[in-house]
Amino acid sequence: MILPIYTYGQPVLRKVAEDIDPVAYPELKKLIADMFETMDSADGVGLAAPQIGLPVRVVVVNLDVLSEEHPEYAGFRKAYINPHIVDLSGDEVAMEEGCLSLPGIHETVKRKDRIRVTYLDEELGMHDEIVEGYLARVMQHEFDHLEGKMFIDHLSALRKQMIKGKLNALLKGKAHCTYKVKTVK
Ligand code: NI
Repeated sequence: MILPIYTYGQPVLRKVAEDIDPVAYPELKKLIADMFETMDSADGVGLAAPQIGLPVRVVVVNLDVLSEEHPEYAGFRKAYINPHIVDLSGDEVAMEEGCLSLPGIHETVKRKDRIRVTYLDEELGMHDEIVEGYLARVMQHEFDHLEGKMFIDHLSALRKQMIKGKLNALLKGKAHCTYKVKTVK
């Protein structure tokens, strides 16, 4: 089922999301399936549960769409349950980002190129991994959502000022995108 994506201004995007008990959580498989379907319908590379209105630590990522440029990501579609970044290291790399909750806004964001993460996979296997490159960027963006953060929080005061008009338009319910959204108004 395709769910509406909550956009900038929705309070759930500013909450710290909670770990879930994956065994007791009702219909976790369906939630993950719906999140994949919603992300795909919006051509996203990642989606965090707060973006569909749920303040829980569940994220889906699809890097297969990048496999022409990055063959190592062919078939890469994964769900992350209770992910946490336990270490950020490496160099800072600047790259343009967008976000399904911020339609029409694309800005350059500096992020670390090497992180250590812990999470459960869909089969509830535990992972503690060092992640580098593009995936490290996507994870930092998506896991930020679980801390109530969005990529615009990383911008300079000047860049924030430059996109203020677009943010205000979103707060007024004006979202220009092809997918279903739930704006504040
Ligand atoms: Ni995002």
